[in-house]
Amino acid sequence: MSAPSPSLSDRHLLLGVTGSIAAYKAAPLVRLFKKSGADVRVLTTPDAERFIPALTLGTLSESEVLTEIFPENEEGSWTKHVTLGQWADLFVVAPATAQTIAKLAHGFCDSMLTATALSARCPLLVCPAMDRDMYRHGATQDNLERLREIGYEVMPAAHGELASGLVGKGRMPEPETIHDRVTEKLADAPEAVPGSHAQPSSLEDTSVLVTAGPTREPFDPVRVLTNRSTGTMGYALARAAADRGGNVTLVSGPTTLAPPDGVEVIDVETAEDMNEAVQARRATADLVLMAAAVADYTPAEQSPTKRKKNDDDLVLTLRRTPDILKRVGERKRSDQILVGFAMETDTPHANARRKLEEKNLDWIVLNDLTEDGAGFGPSTNRVTLLSREGTSEDLPLMPKPDVAEAILDRVLAAQESDS
Ligand code: C5P
Repeated sequence: MSAPSPSLSDRHLLLGVTGSIAAYKAAPLVRLFKKSGADVRVLTTPDAERFIPALTLGTLSESEVLTEIFPENEEGSWTKHVTLGQWADLFVVAPATAQTIAKLAHGFCDSMLTATALSARCPLLVCPAMDRDMYRHGATQDNLERLREIGYEVMPAAHGELASGLVGKGRMPEPETIHDRVTEKLADAPEAVPGSHAQPSSLEDTSVLVTAGPTREPFDPVRVLTNRSTGTMGYALARAAADRGGNVTLVSGPTTLAPPDGVEVIDVETAEDMNEAVQARRATADLVLMAAAVADYTPAEQSPTKRKKNDDDLVLTLRRTPDILKRVGERKRSDQILVGFAMETDTPHANARRKLEEKNLDWIVLNDLTEDGAGFGPSTNRVTLLSREGTSEDLPLMPKPDVAEAILDRVLAAQESDS
């Protein structure tokens, strides 16, 4: 057993326990968390009680175990799932049955555990435990994939002897392994960034302009040059800004994403179209967030008809596209806030800072391209935020919606302290 350390002191941990035989291991897990200094609250599904008494988990956690979303004898406490969701620095579901995984993947909220998962702003760590064939089943694997897309971390089930007598993958990871992963995850998240409990700063009466997605540069009626941007980061920013009451316009290159509620979306195709749409709206925007991956070059000529493949080689002449952000920076109002993005492979910090200065930005968000789960595509991102004032902050790997909230938190906090 690894020696417990005070590594979790003052951390707020939610432990969700579901109806699996592995629920008995929740008891040593609570002890490990407590020994490391964490404040632990346990939430169980109704079936978990068949495997481990609430009295055991309540005694070890020194806190009442909650199961039902509407407790019988606690008047007025039905919003507890919201308070708990905001209180937690991390929510661990261990063991997580196929049933609870399915509910989490589809947003069910029929118990205190599932409702709190929907309210939680902190990261979730899901530790599956079930029989081999249930774990292998396409439905379970799809649900686990969905959880990863949402931004939850799924610990792979361990291989070994299962309660059914079968041998295979399906065992809950050992409490020590879960404890160590929790410690690592929280060490990466210095001051509970995603689980921040403060009320987010408002964007009421603020006009916000966001760009997102790739651009497509055609060289004949059917072929285009483009890049791998999915638009997820820009859409998350637009949604987060609208949720804070902002009047948001999103200029979007081609994506498969649904327009965020309450956001005006202007669809564009090429860098030139995006430039026109942005320049027409930049003067009235108070906050400009340019997350689009704009093509830097476009074919100098477009063939009006589909090019024939007559030759072995095709040589295209490319021309620079307008640097939209630079033009906005050149015309920036003194009370306007301008945020750009950078995706760099060589000397990333130095290049991002140079870009911030050249383009007259207030902030630049540097994508970390060295890490799995960051950059284009994945639903998570790891970024560094550099400010005009010279500050630099590394944020932990987080779901993109949380990255968006963190960016808005930093930008608005700096603005409030300036004014
Ligand atoms: O110079 P670089 O392309 O790395 O700068 C990235 C930032 O500039 C991003 O915020 C991107 O949206 C913006 N950009 C732009 N127009 C371009 C190229 C990039 O607005 N033509």
